[in-house]
Amino acid sequence: MFSYQHEYHAGNFADVHKHLVLWLVLDSLLARPKPFVALDLFAGSGQYALDRGPAARSGEWREGIGRLWSLNRAPATLRVWLDAIRGLQPDPARLTMYPGSPALIQQRLRDQDQLVACELHPGASAVLQDVLRADSRCHLHRRDAREAARALFPPEPRRGLALLDPAYERVQEYAEIPEMTREIRRRWNTGIILVWYPLLEEGRHPQLREALLSRHPGEEILFSELRLSEPPRGPGLQGSGMAVLNMPWQLDQRVRELLLPVWQRLDPDARGGLFQATALENAQGRPQFVRIEPDDSTAMRDVKDHD
Ligand SMILES: C[S@@+](CC[C@H](N)C(=O)[O-])C[C@H]1O[C@@H](n2cnc3c(N)ncnc32)[C@H](O)[C@@H]1O
Repeated sequence: MFSYQHEYHAGNFADVHKHLVLWLVLDSLLARPKPFVALDLFAGSGQYALDRGPAARSGEWREGIGRLWSLNRAPATLRVWLDAIRGLQPDPARLTMYPGSPALIQQRLRDQDQLVACELHPGASAVLQDVLRADSRCHLHRRDAREAARALFPPEPRRGLALLDPAYERVQEYAEIPEMTREIRRRWNTGIILVWYPLLEEGRHPQLREALLSRHPGEEILFSELRLSEPPRGPGLQGSGMAVLNMPWQLDQRVRELLLPVWQRLDPDARGGLFQATALENAQGRPQFVRIEPDDSTAMRDVKDHD
């Protein structure tokens, strides 16, 4: 069950994509003083060394965070995110560590907010326990996320997000994840749910999108997908997808404004693309993607399908 090790992929372009969308959702929760809770159901270990071990061997991070780290001029939100990562480095001048989603969330919690993290892998959860230390705002569960989807919802406070970021090492996960989001929604009708999914050659992502839409009738879902020109190293990963259910106001606009310069930096040949759709199940169950154009973020041309 535990053959997947995020250590090899930490800080790659897919992590950057996922964490920036997460960052924007946190921004919208932080815009009001009311407390929120973030439930990170497949949390990972929270921090990953880049200068040694698996990440150094795979080098995937060089085509992700490595391409953004040295940006002199960056849009404000990207700069704030990069500064947050800089602040977590042992030596802020050198990029030697990449934070996982629970560490990024922890960094943004106010006194009134909470993080609930689930991680089943004994090694990863031990590291995560160390990362979160004795922070009374953070609660770590060494439990199965599928069981947590029933046991931990609705959370208190009700305001917040749930992040589902499984490894997809079993094909059943493509069916289990939409079932989990449905379970969560049945108990928690106000929460923002984020789902990461891989775009693989011959992949199952179209079925995953459609299953999400059919499990959430009447709910508008934002899909953001990022592809690079060259398939990066790693097991056939062509691109990265994020679905956001019950998306905060104007998130679609903020995602495309933030991710356009990021994609341009990550994909200098510009043969990949940044794609976005907002979809409802009753619109034939298929999201209609638009490609976000580099010259003008508001000028978008329709694409039939970018699979
Ligand atoms: C893609 S990684 C998570 C990365 C993390 N969310 C981040 O962005 O930094 C997926 C994690 O889920 C854990 N995992 C796999 N199956 C699980 C399950 N059923 N319940 C809880 N955790 C699980 C794995 O051990 C792995 O650490």
